Amino acid sequence: MVDAPLLALHGISRSFGAGPVLDGLSLSISAGERRGLIGPNGAGKTTLINLITGKLRPDSGRVLYRGLDITDLPPHRRARLGIGRSFQILSLFGEASVGENIRGALLAKHGIGTTVARRLSSLEPIFAESEQIAALAGLLPFLGERVDTLPYGLQRRLDIALVTAQEPELVILDEPAAGLSAAETRDLIDLLEAIIRGCTLILVEHDMDVVYALSDRITVLDYGCVLTEGTPAEVNADPAVRRVYLGEETG
Ligand SMILES: Nc1ncnc2c1ncn2[C@@H]1O[C@H](COP(=O)(O)OP(=O)(O)O)[C@@H](O)[C@H]1O
Ligand SMILES: [Mg+2]
Repeated sequence: MVDAPLLALHGISRSFGAGPVLDGLSLSISAGERRGLIGPNGAGKTTLINLITGKLRPDSGRVLYRGLDITDLPPHRRARLGIGRSFQILSLFGEASVGENIRGALLAKHGIGTTVARRLSSLEPIFAESEQIAALAGLLPFLGERVDTLPYGLQRRLDIALVTAQEPELVILDEPAAGLSAAETRDLIDLLEAIIRGCTLILVEHDMDVVYALSDRITVLDYGCVLTEGTPAEVNADPAVRRVYLGEETG
């Protein structure tokens, strides 16, 4: 196998009763690549991500990771293979502190159960590692703060810090800049740059500044199919893409 893609989707179709949401979609991503995934609302971007992470199964088609068929693997097995995703706040424990959230993610990664009889010594490296991750995400001053008392932008940063805690090979982010101010979005780009260093990235995002800053290549989805794919410059110049987005912006 020469240069097998890290991730390959072959002829993926998926519907939820009505017409297909994804319609025979094929996509291939190389190791180390940063791929932006854009398209109008309802194009099927989140569904595609759920098929990669294992939250959903396709009606037909296969998902290959490092050449391994993972189509029928549950999400935790895919996570162990190196596929990490953010959950857009939903997975944060609001009543716990920032530090507790990060340590929880680290314990899960190291396979250390949260049951009783745990040696305290086994937790020391976890504390050290959680501080490193908090520092990287700019959350060190907030380690002891309850998550649900933090501003939204900081909760977002924690959400992304938890992705790093998984030490994924492939990072999948679904609209990380949604709901952020312009200043928070600029900070987010810097944070993501630091966090995805050395990783492969799939980035779904509406904010094109974020997409352009972080993507080597962009795939445009429309009605569950690949409308086009290319470098940011190629996609930006594509009349079909402009039509789809102009259609959306006037809506
Ligand atoms: N669990 C579901 N049940 C029913 N319909 C769904 C479900 N998930 C997504 N859809 C539909 O699939 C289409 C694509 O959704 P989605 O993948 O979320 O699009 P995007 O993320 O590109 O906005 C939408 O029409 C949406 O209503
Ligand atoms: Mg979506």
